[in-house]
Amino acid sequence: MKAVIITKPGGPEVLKIEERPIPVPSENEVLIKVKAAGLNRSDIAQRKGNYPAPIGTIQDVLGLEVAGTVEDLGKGVRKWKKGDNVMALISGGGYAEYVTVDENICLAIPDTLSFTEAASLPEALFTVWDNVFRRGRLKPGENFLIHGGSSGIGITAIQLAKAFGATVFATAGTDEKCKACEDLGADICINYKEQDFEAKLKEKGIDVILDMIGGDYFAKNINILNADGRLVYINAMKGNPKEFNIMKMMQKRIVITGSTLRGRDIEFKSALAKEIEEHVLPLIKQGKFKTVIDQTFPLSEASKTHELMESSKHIGKIILVNE
Ligand SMILES: NC(=O)c1ccc[n+]([C@@H]2O[C@H](COP(=O)([O-])OP(=O)(O)OC[C@H]3O[C@@H](n4cnc5c(N)ncnc54)[C@H](OP(=O)(O)O)[C@@H]3O)[C@@H](O)[C@H]2O)c1
Repeated sequence: MKAVIITKPGGPEVLKIEERPIPVPSENEVLIKVKAAGLNRSDIAQRKGNYPAPIGTIQDVLGLEVAGTVEDLGKGVRKWKKGDNVMALISGGGYAEYVTVDENICLAIPDTLSFTEAASLPEALFTVWDNVFRRGRLKPGENFLIHGGSSGIGITAIQLAKAFGATVFATAGTDEKCKACEDLGADICINYKEQDFEAKLKEKGIDVILDMIGGDYFAKNINILNADGRLVYINAMKGNPKEFNIMKMMQKRIVITGSTLRGRDIEFKSALAKEIEEHVLPLIKQGKFKTVIDQTFPLSEASKTHELMESSKHIGKIILVNE
């Protein structure tokens, strides 16, 4: 099969197509013929050599989410049969023609979605469900803020928070991105390059913040959170905060938490998949949740997808497709 290999740590040009053997599904795994694979920001860090895949996972083929058809079944698989259309969260290996994954981390693709649309969903659905609704405990009527509103994570967080009854605020780096966030349901999106989100949101008060930025956003987040607010980290693209005002956190009883998804075990991811099946897939089937695809590229143009993601010009997801 064809797979995109990281030939050595470096820029987008180090990604090259190679022939690799088709993987064989182990017990409880399915073999998926990949029709489309989603890009994620951490793919960039892994390509540069800064974010190795977990031990036991393929190291030199990127890709954390795919959509395709079940081609073969490992021993003990009960949930799927050959020919089923599935989307799956994987720990690596998605930029390829075939990949294997535990049967319980696959979700049935709703009839309303194409393979390209389905491939845009698993990483964001699993991450947002865990961090906004489980860790952040977002409730109907609360105020929710997502930084990086036009990212793959952001477009998902906006729509799910809105669908579950929150008032939604977002930040993004251009007016075009802000418009896209508001079109998806954000009540207000702030162009952080033109306005200070702290000044704009302090009066409103926020109950849950999903932050991937870190750095100087940390103190601003603490300042705008309501009493008993929850601050949830999924990355720190601007690094660690220089200061941490412990007293303010205590006075407002703020919970600071965060998580990484990739290294979690099968049981944890299976439990998330069940909750997503129950609570989120019905919204997608009813057309209450839109996928947002910025561009698609063939597998042979993986380098271009990385250039686009690093430019941060995209809105929503970038997808690799197998022709
Ligand atoms: N912890 C986890 O389990 C987990 C899981 C999935 C994703 N994540 C994280 O969630 C974030 C979003 O992932 P994604 O794949 O959806 O990303 P993405 O589509 O590439 O979007 C990231 C966006 O963040 C904005 N941004 C703001 N400040 C930035 C900075 N200092 N450096 C780079 N970008 C900046 C950019 O848009 P603007 O124009 O608005 O600046 C950029 O387009 C990433 O940081 C990723 O690592 C974490």
